[in-house]
Amino acid sequence: MSTPSGLTRSPRPTLTAQLRRRKSISHMVESAHADNGGGQLKRTLGVFQLTMISVGATLGTGILVILGQAVPIAGPAVFISFLLAGVTALLSAVSYAEMAGMVPVSGSSYSYSYATLGEGIAWVCGWCLVLEYAVSVAAVAVGAAEYVNETLSVFGLELPAALAAGPSEPGGMVNLSALIVVGLATILLIRGARESALVNTVVVIIKTGILVFFSIVAFTAFNAGNFEPLLPMGAAGVTGAASIVFFSYIGFDAASTAGEEARNPKRDLPRAILWSMVIVTTAYVLVAVTAVGARQWQWFEGSQAALVQIIHELTGQQWIVLLFAASSVLAIASVVLTVLYGQTRILLSMSRDGLVPGIFSRVNARTGTPIAGTVITGSVVALTAAFIPLGQLAEATSIGTLFAFALVSVSVIYLRRKQPLATRTFKVPFYPLTPILGAAACLFLMSQLAPVTWLVFGLWMCVGIVIYFGYGRRHSRLGQLSKQQYIDAHLNRPAD
Ligand code: ALA
Repeated sequence: MSTPSGLTRSPRPTLTAQLRRRKSISHMVESAHADNGGGQLKRTLGVFQLTMISVGATLGTGILVILGQAVPIAGPAVFISFLLAGVTALLSAVSYAEMAGMVPVSGSSYSYSYATLGEGIAWVCGWCLVLEYAVSVAAVAVGAAEYVNETLSVFGLELPAALAAGPSEPGGMVNLSALIVVGLATILLIRGARESALVNTVVVIIKTGILVFFSIVAFTAFNAGNFEPLLPMGAAGVTGAASIVFFSYIGFDAASTAGEEARNPKRDLPRAILWSMVIVTTAYVLVAVTAVGARQWQWFEGSQAALVQIIHELTGQQWIVLLFAASSVLAIASVVLTVLYGQTRILLSMSRDGLVPGIFSRVNARTGTPIAGTVITGSVVALTAAFIPLGQLAEATSIGTLFAFALVSVSVIYLRRKQPLATRTFKVPFYPLTPILGAAACLFLMSQLAPVTWLVFGLWMCVGIVIYFGYGRRHSRLGQLSKQQYIDAHLNRPAD
């Protein structure tokens, strides 16, 4: 039997064979370069813009909002919590850097898993990435909306209760600000990766600028005595806070979703991922140290927007507070922009592989962007942020992210064993210790999360499994290759 693409259908393979079928790296790169009817993405991004994409997706609610919640748990040593979470993220980041240099396509860890662990795990990974990207971006948009509402209140303005929050809040009907933030990000993404990257770069410069500004202002009130005792809540407080602030590092992998829009992906993706980790960790530690230096750790208990409050108390200037709050809105909105971008590119890769419908990989010839996929993704995220209480689902994003990170470390080990001679533009240092520690650290942090979070994660996975068996398994492009073509294309490629 012939498929529309002229390929011969194979006799029905066993379930195990279906779950284990792998794409070869060279085939993946070739099909990304080939215009397979869906159109090609444009290669416009250099190392600077790629770094900005990762920083843009990372630096946001974690430092602006979650820092205030973490200080009462860790005490003055909260900066150590940021360092610990940063080291865990870095252990995964180096594995991402190696894989991104080897598999420079747009699917991030989903594509790495497809090349190594097979279609079943790749699907699970891609479904986890939907949790990491689409669901978390809806939660971040709700955070951005809170900042919008706070900024409006500086002007004495207030949205009607029905438009200020979703139906889960008393009197709320629709979270209008979240809807608008996601809507604007979607429009920008449709216009083009280059335009989006430009706006993102400007916003990243603003958001690193306000954190440096905060650190300078807070430093003027620095009191070394605030660091004594350093560990009032013990070491457990520091590690507990580390698992909370890990959220603030989610997103460093965003550059790896831009593999097909990078001018020189093999060289630039590893650099961008590592540079973004350096920038973000430095900013977090600087802000954490100066914030606790300016205010005793007990002061942070119950604070909503601690950084804004400190700026207010130290400068006493309304216009500075306004500028700071408005820039914070932009900072969080740029997380929405870049994470939404990442989600559309991951879906594009999955769609090209036939695991989700073809509409997600249709690239517009004029803009060079997947317009239909972007509109669908943006609409779903906007409606979710506007109407649905995310609660536990948002918390489950950390599990999904950690699982995807662990898979990348496993992929590095797998490829080092199976393809030791393949060209690697970046190599994980201290192999195999680093990826082993990276995977172990992710699994450890997963084990620290609440049982209810695991339950939600389990339900999410069940939905994913139903979709795979209902759609992906039957539409998989690899599955449409004949057995012989499959062997030719994917197994007899020793150099791959
Ligand atoms: N790391 C991102 C943030 O802090 C998700 O908002």
